[in-house]
Amino acid sequence: MLIDSHCHLTDERLLPEREAIVSSMSEDGLCALVTVGYDRESSLGGLAFAETHAGVWCTLGVHPHDADKLDGETLSAFRTLAERDKVVAIGEIGLDYYYDLSPRDVQREAFARQIALADECGLPMCLHVRDAYGDCLALLKENEGKLSHGVLLHCYSGSPEMVKEFSRFDAYFAFGGAITFKNAKKNVESLSLVPRDRLLVETDCPYMTPVPYRGRTNFPRYVSLVADKVAEVLSLSREEVEELTTANTKRLFKKMK
Ligand code: NI
Repeated sequence: MLIDSHCHLTDERLLPEREAIVSSMSEDGLCALVTVGYDRESSLGGLAFAETHAGVWCTLGVHPHDADKLDGETLSAFRTLAERDKVVAIGEIGLDYYYDLSPRDVQREAFARQIALADECGLPMCLHVRDAYGDCLALLKENEGKLSHGVLLHCYSGSPEMVKEFSRFDAYFAFGGAITFKNAKKNVESLSLVPRDRLLVETDCPYMTPVPYRGRTNFPRYVSLVADKVAEVLSLSREEVEELTTANTKRLFKKMK
């Protein structure tokens, strides 16, 4: 059974489907889903859904796109809610210099505050990084003492060389639908360099739909297409990929049972 380690069940495209998504989990080969927050509303909404649905876990965080909305009140709400059983990580947090929807200095500040939050809460962090791997690495180095609960690079799109750099922090790497795309050469090379015990799979649904459904809405069940691609690239069986990535996800997200 697979775990979709990163999905957005609070997204309006998935709202009408999400009861069905959860009730068909086992027939779709899924043992757990992690619905990831990207602002205060989606974090609280994801927690409410996780708390009423077996097999669903959640994270709390403010995405770099919304970095300018991270205030003290949101941080203290997250600090309190992080103690709930279903909250497995702080995220998604990080830097996005591709869209630059919040000023870069504001993104770095919000990222640093949430690295500190994850450390205080004793939770791993789920990072969103786009066109900002150098600055992300620098911020992690500055905060090296606060990373002991685990770092996950969601939807890893950095260079193969950077895999080594992040591995110094014992980082985990999650791959999604992008590895099935035709132009995925760089991502596939990165995938082959990730330590086997640090590899996760995800969908990031409703985004990043894998081939052959690219261009349509993505769903957690399509994580099986990602697992197939991982098996092909690493010359593993599908069963080995399932065992490996599920064990890795549970090791990282310690509260998941
Ligand atoms: Ni996401």
